[in-house]
Amino acid sequence: MVSKKIKVLVSAGPTREYIDPIRFISNPSTGKMGYLIAEYAKNLGYDVILISGPTNLPIPSGIKLIKVESAREMQKEIVKYFPKVDLLIMSAAVSDWRPYRKYRNKLKIKKEWKLKLIPNPDILKNVSKIKKKNQKIVGFALETENIIENAIRKLKEKKLDLIIANTQDFFGEGKKSKVYLIFKDGKILKFKIKKEELPKIIFTSIL
Ligand code: C5P
Repeated sequence: MVSKKIKVLVSAGPTREYIDPIRFISNPSTGKMGYLIAEYAKNLGYDVILISGPTNLPIPSGIKLIKVESAREMQKEIVKYFPKVDLLIMSAAVSDWRPYRKYRNKLKIKKEWKLKLIPNPDILKNVSKIKKKNQKIVGFALETENIIENAIRKLKEKKLDLIIANTQDFFGEGKKSKVYLIFKDGKILKFKIKKEELPKIIFTSIL
């Protein structure tokens, strides 16, 4: 019997939400976590699709890479590919808001002005609505306070199988920091690891 190849969809990096053609709001996500996860899954022999916001990382080989900029572009690609995969790992740092409009030309305002932001779609919430029984979804929660409490709320709201909760410390290079894996059955695992060690832990605990 030929076993079916596992298909994994990974999101990575920040999103950019444009104010005008050259200015945007974003965040300092490097995309490294998602690229490490995608690379690890490829090395396990899985089919990997990586939906990536703007990063400076080299294009990974053997992985289908789709580049996007805004949260809405990211959502469009995730909704397109999700029905074809067994597992979605959403490590992208999606901007929660975007400017209510993108100006067509470079703004030349010199006085004080107010930028109106509106909420972006919650990609995980929307994708969980089309989730089938045999599919799994993993999310991340970067928290500055009440780490576990906030992560559990997100796990429930977004109907995830697993959420990985951490603090900003996790984003330093090469140093160990606390990471919690919180499962939908209430199990919580705590690790002190470098981000390079996380992909192995995710795949051994979710598949
Ligand atoms: O930003 P937040 O802490 O709520 O992110 C938690 C999870 O939700 C992450 O996995 C992130 O990729 C995802 N997310 C999303 N759509 C958003 C914001 C976050 O899918 N608009």
